Amino acid sequence: MQKTPMVKSPMARKTRRNECSLLLFVLLILAAIMLLLGSTVLAQIYLPNPAPEPSEYGKVVFDKHSATGPGPVVFDHWLHRSHFTCRLCHVDVGFAMEANATGITAATNREGFHCGACHDGKKLFEGRPIFPSCSDAPENNQCDRCHSLGKPGVRKYEYHKFTAKFPKGIYGVDWEQAEQTGVIKPADFVEGLSVKRPPMPRRGDFSIKAQDSWVHPILFSHQKHVVWNGCELCHPDIFPAAQKGTARYSMFSNIEGRFCGACHGKVAFPLNNCKGCHPRGPTWAP
Ligand code: HEC
Ligand code: HEC
Ligand code: HEC
Ligand code: HEC
Ligand code: HEC
Ligand code: HEC
Repeated sequence: MQKTPMVKSPMARKTRRNECSLLLFVLLILAAIMLLLGSTVLAQIYLPNPAPEPSEYGKVVFDKHSATGPGPVVFDHWLHRSHFTCRLCHVDVGFAMEANATGITAATNREGFHCGACHDGKKLFEGRPIFPSCSDAPENNQCDRCHSLGKPGVRKYEYHKFTAKFPKGIYGVDWEQAEQTGVIKPADFVEGLSVKRPPMPRRGDFSIKAQDSWVHPILFSHQKHVVWNGCELCHPDIFPAAQKGTARYSMFSNIEGRFCGACHGKVAFPLNNCKGCHPRGPTWAP
């Protein structure tokens, strides 16, 4: 075997190698910058704000009358949704699906509307009367259980203790599991509050075909949603059409709080849980 003759001096070879690695280095930097720019732009477009702590998630603070009342009121979805369906409160009681949009006052509560529809000191829950709201009764010393903002220790229920035995998912309580395994049995009917209705029709499940071909279809279970939401929470306000494929959803509109985002991101599992809706894909290519 013969060695190939040297064409260039070792010196020349070294410079060439240096030029090569410099070029490679510049290219790498460029690629990194592009990746970085690209992903921040994408992130700004698609990433919803990180959800708050599960204990804070779905919390509504009422602070309209704090000057005249015993202070701001805290309402927690984690507690109430363990006992009642969304439909019961948002249809039968008639709460808006938007914080501070219902116009609750001490007077409406005393008349038996809003919080007072249940919190009237008479309706029974697990054999005990539910503590009353905004009553004038002198024996009612439970005002702070609702008017609780910034008053530690006044409440009976605390998130971590209350949900200790609930199945957990990637983000706090897995409510779907909790309901399916019977850990919670949210009531859809409260005597004196709801009207008797025929059983709800079964709805088939379907998948939502994304407009972009690179996105796997998004599974949607009509039936599972009906358990919590009935029909009226979604039709006609959030999804007006009685025909599949009419709504033009996108992740933009979800993040803006429309369509799926009307609930997912506020009370149902948050939009950050990409796999909850895009089970077939990695985060960035669902
Ligand atoms: C015990 C009654 C009750 C139950 C059960 C309940 N909600 Fe609510 N929800 C409320 C009240 C009260 C508000 C605040 C309304 C207001 O301020 O006008 C609210 C507000 C909301 C909002 C708006 C939140 C925001 O930050 O803008 C959404 C979305 C919502 N609920 C969805 C749901 C879903 C989904 C369920 C079932 C998993 C559910 N709710 C169960 C009473 C309830
Ligand atoms: C559908 C019935 C229902 C409605 C409507 C309802 N609640 Fe409740 N709420 C309950 C029940 C039942 C409990 C558990 C009571 C118990 O175990 O003592 C509860 C518990 C609470 C607690 C927990 C108190 C503690 O000591 O930890 C707060 C706070 C509360 N409700 C606030 C509200 C507010 C504010 C509203 C109105 C915006 C409201 N609730 C509307 C049924 C209801
Ligand atoms: C079940 C929950 C609950 C309980 C218990 C409760 N409140 Fe309220 N209260 C509310 C809500 C909700 C509002 C509306 C707050 C807002 O929008 O700022 C309110 C508002 C008020 C206001 C403001 C003025 C007005 O006209 O709305 C006063 C005063 C008030 N409550 C007094 C009381 C007193 C006194 C008690 C105890 C005897 C009490 N509340 C117990 C839920 C409750
Ligand atoms: C509550 C359900 C839900 C969650 C959670 C969710 N998505 Fe989506 N996503 C959808 C739906 C529905 C569409 C279909 C839009 C269409 O018709 O093209 C979609 C579409 C998309 C698309 C296609 C482009 C577009 O705007 O249509 C991308 C990319 C996407 N999602 C990324 C994500 C990422 C990243 C996350 C987590 C941060 C996420 N999604 C979480 C429901 C969800
Ligand atoms: C969580 C929200 C949600 C709930 C709750 C819900 N739907 Fe729907 N429904 C949808 C969505 C999303 C579509 C598809 C709309 C589109 O693509 O434009 C749809 C489509 C439909 C369609 C047309 C397609 C088909 O399957 O025939 C009918 C009819 C319908 N829903 C009836 C109902 C009835 C009846 C109930 C109560 C038993 C109900 N829905 C509960 C979200 C919901
Ligand atoms: C009216 C409120 C509401 C709307 C609108 C809504 N969801 Fe949900 N969704 C819920 C609730 C409540 C649950 C129960 C689990 C939870 O709260 O985290 C749920 C659960 C789910 C689950 C888990 C159930 C399962 O199949 O295992 C998926 C997936 C889902 N939603 C996707 C969607 C998509 C996609 C859309 C939009 C097309 C949508 N949701 C619109 C309220 C809603």
